[in-house]
Amino acid sequence: MLPLLLLLLATAHGLEETRSVPILASSSLGGLTTASTFVLEQPRCVFTNVQEDTVIWLVVATVEGMHTFNNSVAPGTPERAFQRFPTTASAYMTLNTTLLNYPCTTAPGAITVLRVGSETSCAKNPMRPTCNGPLPGPGPYQVKFLALADSKPVSETGWSEPITLRTAQPPSSIPTMGSGRSAGMIALTSILSILFAILLAGLVAMLVFGGLDACGGSSTLSKAEAVTVRRYNTHHVYDQPAARL
Ligand SMILES: *[C@@H]1O[C@H](CO)[C@@H](O)[C@H](O)[C@H]1NC(C)=O
Ligand SMILES: *[C@@H]1O[C@H](CO)[C@@H](O)[C@H](O)[C@H]1NC(C)=O
Repeated sequence: MLPLLLLLLATAHGLEETRSVPILASSSLGGLTTASTFVLEQPRCVFTNVQEDTVIWLVVATVEGMHTFNNSVAPGTPERAFQRFPTTASAYMTLNTTLLNYPCTTAPGAITVLRVGSETSCAKNPMRPTCNGPLPGPGPYQVKFLALADSKPVSETGWSEPITLRTAQPPSSIPTMGSGRSAGMIALTSILSILFAILLAGLVAMLVFGGLDACGGSSTLSKAEAVTVRRYNTHHVYDQPAARL
């Protein structure tokens, strides 16, 4: 009875609002929000009453932009351009894909999340207004999925809870004394390491060449000695009977 009622309501309204809202991906993946990105669960099995070739867009808005958002403004227009967000566009639309990519059944190991803000290459390119570029600040942002069939909105999710990103520590808050000292320590350590390496190399060279010389010299000497002594003895022993004769 309730689905039928919802369907009737949607038909009357012209736009079906699913009861789902985008949610941040579960924390088992790690790094879910950074200073310029966040990770959402894909809207799988959310749009069930629309054609398979319906295009699903992600809408990212400021909290004010969410309140004034107009579903009929087409993606890719200046009002929805990532490059103008959040100054002259209070929302942008990105990550468009057909419904086929959000099936209900999930293959094992399949990626079921979306990283918002992961595309750096197009962030400054006004020719790519639907760029999934890094978010311009900590937010808060609110997002929803909007389904367009033939560029007409046919279905949507509700808006997410406000999403606030991590704030990067501003460089001025890092104490200069500490960084100066650590830089000095690094330099000193490097110099000491180099000196030690040179010393070690010298020591090794001394051992190797010194050892070779000593080794070669002593062996030659002992061989020569042995030969001389043997010869001397032989001659001595051989000569004696000859002398006696
Ligand atoms: C929404 O946008 C469409 C297309 O730009 C426009 O025709 C319509 O008047 C807008 N609706 C509101 C309430 O601003
Ligand atoms: C997304 O939309 C842009 C601009 O309308 C289009 O060029 C691109 O092919 C679309 N991508 C997908 C995956 O549908």
